[in-house]
Amino acid sequence: MVISTKRTLFAGGVAALILGAGSGAAWASPEKPVIGFSIDDLRLERWTRDRDFFVEAAKTLGASVNVQSADASEERQIAQIETMIARGVDAIVIVPFNGKALGNVIAEAKRSGIKVVSYDRLILNADIDAYITFDNERVGELQAQGVLEAKPTGNYFLMGGAPTDNNSKILRQGQMKVLQPAIDAGKIKIVGSQFVPEWSATTALQIMEDALTANKNAIDGVVASNDAEAGGVVQALTAQNLAGKTAVSGQDADLAAVQRVKAGTQTVTVYKPLKEIATKAADLAVALVKGRTPQFNATLNNGKTDVPSIFLTPVLVTKQNWDIVVKDGFYTEAQINRK
Ligand code: GAL
Repeated sequence: MVISTKRTLFAGGVAALILGAGSGAAWASPEKPVIGFSIDDLRLERWTRDRDFFVEAAKTLGASVNVQSADASEERQIAQIETMIARGVDAIVIVPFNGKALGNVIAEAKRSGIKVVSYDRLILNADIDAYITFDNERVGELQAQGVLEAKPTGNYFLMGGAPTDNNSKILRQGQMKVLQPAIDAGKIKIVGSQFVPEWSATTALQIMEDALTANKNAIDGVVASNDAEAGGVVQALTAQNLAGKTAVSGQDADLAAVQRVKAGTQTVTVYKPLKEIATKAADLAVALVKGRTPQFNATLNNGKTDVPSIFLTPVLVTKQNWDIVVKDGFYTEAQINRK
């Protein structure tokens, strides 16, 4: 629930006075904060890009970063955050595996005076200091728009994100905002819908194979919630000679997905300029540590507190404009054209 999207300037002057008092943070020196970056799963392509951009940006700010991947394990992520706290980092930036499971360990971080930033996925029911994300409802709208434009009528399958990821619910809200009028008008019919644990391409492949069998291949559109899933979906469609005929969405502008969009086997992906979110997240973390006042543009309640937030804008990628990822320096032309 977004409470306000007004540009909010937080008067954080007092923070500068109390920051050092009992913070317990192990500053190498005020100019060299130490940041923990706790990532759900570096096995998913996009997070390796977030990591590299974040580390690079933090370095230019004089901060060092300790990166940990939980490889989609809730227990491992909690243990890794606890280790960061024990080491006395000054801030922890978190991409949660399970947005509902970090309340206690974040309370521990706060008791140690550590700043906590929720990165691209909202951590629920926890005392976090800030949230930075792309507008996930907008991502869902773009995904559905891309598929609906290609296939205004027919049978649709909804491939949701990981049920442990708060984004999956928000993406679905955006998707349904676009699809509902076409459903109500009898133009499209939802013949199946599943949320995919860990955003797994393999699981998406299995789900799609079963859906095609159950519907005798009569599936005209698949609203898939990220590119890993889209890859599994396209693999299942290819086996039935439906690749390029059934419309498919995705998200993250993974290299293979941009190649599929260019080739026409995936209809759209959604580009989220990762250099922008990672750089702004590094700025945000260092500003919080130094008691400076970050620039927020929204406030979001996470079930425990009203979280100062930064919402960034995603971009729809189609067969017509896929080269925006080259113009933006996300990939080189050679990478896109390499088979
Ligand atoms: C989501 C994120 C998507 C995608 C997905 C898989 O939380 O919003 O961009 O990356 O995770 O990692």
